[in-house]
Amino acid sequence: MIRVPFRAAPSVRAVVVVALTGLVAAACGPKLPEGDLSQPEGWDAQVKLQDAVDHDPSPNVIEVHLEAKPTMLELRPGVMTEVWTYNGTLPGPTIRARVGDEVVVKFRNSLPEATTIHWHGLRVPAAQDGTEHTQPPIEPGDTWEYRFTVPDSGTFWYHPHIRSSAQVGAGLYGAFVVEPREGSEEHALEGALGDDLLMVLSDVSLEEDGSLSPADKHGFFGSYFGREGELVMVNGRPMPTVKMRLGVPQRWRLVNAARARYFRFNVPGQSLVRLGGDGGLAERPVPVNEVTIAPGERVELYLLPQAEVVPQAPVTVTVPLLDANRFHLPAEAEPGELMRVELVAEKAGWGAPSLPERFGEIPVIDTTGARVQLVEFMEKSDPDGAVLGINGRTDGHLMLTASANTVEVWELTNTTPYDHPFHLHGFFFQVLDVDGKAPELREWRDTVNLVPGRKVRIAIPFDDRVGMWMFHCHILDHADIGMMAMLHLH
Ligand code: C2O
Ligand code: CU
Repeated sequence: MIRVPFRAAPSVRAVVVVALTGLVAAACGPKLPEGDLSQPEGWDAQVKLQDAVDHDPSPNVIEVHLEAKPTMLELRPGVMTEVWTYNGTLPGPTIRARVGDEVVVKFRNSLPEATTIHWHGLRVPAAQDGTEHTQPPIEPGDTWEYRFTVPDSGTFWYHPHIRSSAQVGAGLYGAFVVEPREGSEEHALEGALGDDLLMVLSDVSLEEDGSLSPADKHGFFGSYFGREGELVMVNGRPMPTVKMRLGVPQRWRLVNAARARYFRFNVPGQSLVRLGGDGGLAERPVPVNEVTIAPGERVELYLLPQAEVVPQAPVTVTVPLLDANRFHLPAEAEPGELMRVELVAEKAGWGAPSLPERFGEIPVIDTTGARVQLVEFMEKSDPDGAVLGINGRTDGHLMLTASANTVEVWELTNTTPYDHPFHLHGFFFQVLDVDGKAPELREWRDTVNLVPGRKVRIAIPFDDRVGMWMFHCHILDHADIGMMAMLHLH
């Protein structure tokens, strides 16, 4: 396998590849085009997100200013819609930090109602978690300051935690990327994982005239089934095109920020490799045929466009949005469309570094003597229909307790007929087994989809960050109507 130095500047890499192209051609027979390891010009122009400005000059402090406010944006082509945004863009600005950095967020609420910001997946102190149990609501016109250190690398996100379904559904969400420490093992791997492409997947529900649909559209049934918007967006844009050069890898960091929609897709003709999920890189890369991302979840993918599907000049493939069938209906719906990928053949990038076989150790959690708690996502009938809840409580006030610095095993079940993504605040966990079967590989997660009738056992290593943490269904409509509970860590 031909390797080029990691982290080499594109021009240097291109020279190396040009020099090596002859060897590849000799080895493979037919003459290959000249190699170029840079992404095609404008490859990410249609999905480029703004990064948050760091207002603090010191190297290990990131100071970000966020303002939540109503904003007019063109989401459906040709129509303006008033949405709610952070700093005027949808998604909000991407916060970028490095492991160990201190992050300060100076926030102003210019919405007509109270809000908070929750840092989904980040292991922050309880007081910084941004829920109604850890802080007072930030009223219209008020400011608030969040301050925490980021301990883990990976792809995370931020969103409100008051009337979450309405506020996230109106456009309030943004990505938060934490890079590994310089000089760390993971940092050394990065050059082989491809060029970063961050994509926040979401949807929005618009009326005929382009205005945002009411947050409580279809009342109880809307909440019970979970509101999916008919306009599907990648980084706030419907059906964008991303360009890829033959032989040049990309690392897709995907966040599902929709309030109810699951995203399931493949890239026709291309093989996908899953690098990791909620907690960053898994133990090792795993080839997959397709991916499903439940609300709240993240997935990292590696794509290396292959020759056989790129006959000549540019070829555009449509990435289908497949039916994740979260209702377990007998037949799948016809696929929709998520985005386009344009494969650029000329100056193919022969000589990209090969993907490492392993990324690093994910420790095995010792669960001997661990306390076991049962968590059942359930529903019961009610004069108005069915109500959703956890462990028999449908008012959102169930409270479990746990002791700091212990490991617990939670047995998660779902006795409803539909899927629900379980999300725990503040702590990563590992899935031990699903119906007794251990998963293919170890990884850290903060969200796991619960399929009806299956039992998912997870191990949670609690540390000393005592306080009130929440766990709930990340179909935000469900969380709002009762699939919501607290964990008091003491
Ligand atoms: Cu992203 Cu309480 O959730
Ligand atoms: Cu749910």
